[in-house]
Amino acid sequence: MTASVPNPAGIDVNGDVLVLGIETSCDETAASVVKNGRDVLSCEISSQFDQHRVYGGIVPEIASRRHMELIEYTVNEALACAGVKRERVACVAVTNGPGLVGSLLVGLSYAKALGFSWNIPFIGVNHIKAHIFANFIGNDVCVPPFLCLVVSGGHTHLFKVYDYDRLTVIGRTMDDAAGEAFDKVSRTLGLTYPGGPAIDNAAKRGNPKAFSFPKANMKEYDFSFSGLKSAVINVINQYKLKNQPIPVEDIAASFQQTVVDVLCDKIFKGLAEYGFNKAALAGGVAANSLLRSVLRERCHSNGIELYMPLPVYCTDNGAMTASCGYYEYLKGNYSGINMNAFPNLTFSFEGENQCNPNLTGC
Ligand code: KG4
Ligand code: ZN
Repeated sequence: MTASVPNPAGIDVNGDVLVLGIETSCDETAASVVKNGRDVLSCEISSQFDQHRVYGGIVPEIASRRHMELIEYTVNEALACAGVKRERVACVAVTNGPGLVGSLLVGLSYAKALGFSWNIPFIGVNHIKAHIFANFIGNDVCVPPFLCLVVSGGHTHLFKVYDYDRLTVIGRTMDDAAGEAFDKVSRTLGLTYPGGPAIDNAAKRGNPKAFSFPKANMKEYDFSFSGLKSAVINVINQYKLKNQPIPVEDIAASFQQTVVDVLCDKIFKGLAEYGFNKAALAGGVAANSLLRSVLRERCHSNGIELYMPLPVYCTDNGAMTASCGYYEYLKGNYSGINMNAFPNLTFSFEGENQCNPNLTGC
């Protein structure tokens, strides 16, 4: 890499702050340039579905090696598509956890190298938090406070979002994440990977009342999807044992309806208890068409303002990382060169001390 012109103020000639966001926590190599935390100038996502599909799930070593091959190309494409020279970039934001450690390390190391050689700060970003920030993308009216459900392949968290840097978890899954259940049920039904979109499609032709699947009765705002997942898999296996044709569409529709009911009920319980009049959705499962339409309808009839990222910003992308990094950048929360990747990085519950491992020295 050649030497760069430093941009210490971080504000370009137009008075804008441009952040390059890099995301490699799982199986997407993604980079994006975002202006002032909200306007996406480019969003490059190199998906690895084809590499992992044959195994029916993500193979961590394949994922990290593929990130290594794709990272430079993806970042260069993001800069080129944004029409932005690197001198205009104020900082590099990168996911440093949670996720697959080998995958995280590729993005993190690359972002450190860019920050160092371009002489700009780099900022490690919590991936779960970044999902929430997808709601700010292309949306100038979305501002905290609001209640936000993050539902992805690895996480199911319900957050009270008071401010950009003041978020507390009030519930999370005790076992499987919602997306994980989608992926496992899809695989057992013989549908493709990733399972969420496959179930979403199949369910459109199925009867959501054909099967009555169990809903875990969890306390307060916690979730559990492993019992539901096992119940669905048992039903599928019974058809297989009896050599009977599996009613794929009906099972997909009934399973999806059960998950959506559980998620929406928890959101509305939280809205009522905490008095929020705004709700937001985030994470890969937030792309689910039934979840979006049921929540839209329920929020509309209850006078709740609802934010939902476009589906492309629900699944993993670099724009949400850049948006999250932008708000850290404004506060001067830069990361140190010794920052590590944290595969289990999480959020503490309300009332506990919040440690922010994104900050140097934490
Ligand atoms: O947020 P994400 O891209 O990665 C993680 O941080 O985990 O979420 C991926 C998850 C996968 O489990 C995938 O099956 C699920 O999101 N997903 C969906 C849909 N699109 C993606 N689940 C339900 N319906 C969808 N349309
Ligand atoms: Zn994610």
